[in-house]
Parts: sequence; C-alpha cells; structure tokens
Amino acid sequence: MQTITTVAELRRALASDRRAGKRVGFVPTMGYLHDGHLTLVEASRLQSDVTVVSVFVNPTQFGPNEDLSTYPRDFARDEKLCRDANVDIVFAPDAREVYPGRFETFIEPGELAKPLCGAFRPGHFRGVATVVCKLFNMVQPDIAFFGQKDFQQCAVVRHMAVDLNLPIEIVTVPTVREADGLAMSSRNRYLSEEERRRALAISRGLFAAVDSFRAGEREVEKLVSLAKGHLDEVDRLQYVELVDQDTLKAAESPLCRPAAMCAAAYVGSTRLIDNVILA
Ligand code: PAJ
Repeated sequence: MQTITTVAELRRALASDRRAGKRVGFVPTMGYLHDGHLTLVEASRLQSDVTVVSVFVNPTQFGPNEDLSTYPRDFARDEKLCRDANVDIVFAPDAREVYPGRFETFIEPGELAKPLCGAFRPGHFRGVATVVCKLFNMVQPDIAFFGQKDFQQCAVVRHMAVDLNLPIEIVTVPTVREADGLAMSSRNRYLSEEERRRALAISRGLFAAVDSFRAGEREVEKLVSLAKGHLDEVDRLQYVELVDQDTLKAAESPLCRPAAMCAAAYVGSTRLIDNVILA
C-alpha cells in the first residue's frame, strides 16, 4: 500500500495502472474509518483492480459553527485499517494541496441540495460537490463508492456526475449498522454512553416505519408520525421526512413510488443522520 499526499505523485502512481487498462475504484472519506467505510472498500475491491481511498477532512463542507476543528482524526489508525483491507493507495492531501491560494470555483448543486440536510446546513452540499468533483479529477476513477447513510449526498453526487458528464460509475452501498441498529458514523465517538443509548431512538423510529410499510401502511403522515413517536429521546430533532427516492421532494399519499424516510437529530451536541428506503 502506498500513502500519497500530492496530486502529482498520485498521477504518477496511477499512470502505469491506467496504461495497463486497470479499472480504478475510488472511496472518498474524511477518515476516522469504521466498518461503514471498510464496506465501501470491500465493494471497490470486488469491482475494480486498483482501490484508492482518500482521507481528507474537507473544510468547505463545514458551516462556521460546525465541528471542522474537532472532527475526529487518527491517520495512523486509518492507514492500518486500509492496509489490512488491501487498499492500494491512500491519498491524504493537506488542505493547501486541495485548496491552493485564490481558490474560487465551486460546484453549485440544484434542487436536490435544498431539502433535508441542505435546509439546515447551508452551503454543505456545495462543499461536498466541489470536493468530490475535485477528488474525481485528481484520482480519475472508473467507479466510485458512496454510502446510503448519506442518502442526500449520494443523490447530489449522482446528479452532478450526470449533469457534468463525468465518466464515472457511481455506486451506492447499503448503510452498515452496529448490532443494535445505530448507523455507523465517525461522529458516534462523540457520544457518551447515555447519549449512545438515546441515539438508538433514530434507527428505532425508522425501523418502525419500515415495519408498518411492510404491513401495508401507505399514508405518508402515518408513517412519519410513527417514526417521530420514537424520537422523544433525542435532544433536538431537525427533521423526519418521507421523500421521493429520486427527486427528494415530499412523498405523496398513498405511497406508490420508492421513498426514503430520512432523519436528522442532535443527541447532546452531536448531530446524527440516518435513513431507510420504503420500497
Ligand atoms: P465520510 O463521512 O467519512 O464518509 C465517507 C463515505 O462513507 C461516504 O460515502 C459515506 O456515506 C460512507 N459511510 C459513512 N458511514 C457509513 C455507514 N454506516 N454505512 C455505509 N457507508 C457509510 O461523506 C463524507 O465523508 C464526505 O462528505 C466526502 C464524500 C468524503 C466528501 O468530503
């Protein structure tokens, strides 16, 4: 495994693989890796010849009052996990490598970035789309892997790839959960034991909606209020919404197209998100 920090070095490292016609798989991350990230790596290993994982905490996707400075980092641990997972290249540029002086050209996503997290994190998806596009240009992968855990992010990235004719296959990998249902997240490490217990309310609420949907419920309001009913234990609920899987617009009753039930809530000072697909 190689650890690379500059774009020039990355291009050199990948040139011979590309000449040999190898398929390059890419897993962008912000590090502090867990089994969710490693499942994306596994998917890449299965579907490509060379796997590149980027570790970069992207400043442009954090709001001024968000956790950029405290975002968990442990690069030595990330490197070891990548080596054990048979990653070929870890690309870990610093902020100056990605955003040299006078950086001023952003990707502005459209309607898909407005609801859900977009409404609570202004500029977040602009930062995500911009850094993902830049990383795509640096790595030039054939295929890239994203987690369903960040459902809206997947939608924004997929749409960007279509809108900008990026020759990259975008794959969405199902959410990896702890044994009790909590969606894995680098931010889970902020939770105290007591908060960790209350955080379970989020997946519990979403699973209750899935059960009810499977039992035949198709009324949006009933499904949403069922999920909300479980969410008393969180400290601040931002949203629980049922949206069309493709457009992210509010789903309509009776449900007859695949929809995503998405939630975001604070437990203590930690913001957590999760979603399930009703289809
Ligand atoms: P990060 O939060 O580190 O996540 C990196 C990738 O891992 C994303 O595609 C995310 O959806 C996926 N992931 C996280 N938790 C997961 C889980 N429990 N199950 C499955 N996949 C999971 O998302 C980002 O970083 C950044 O926004 C990034 C795309 C790297 C751009 O900066």
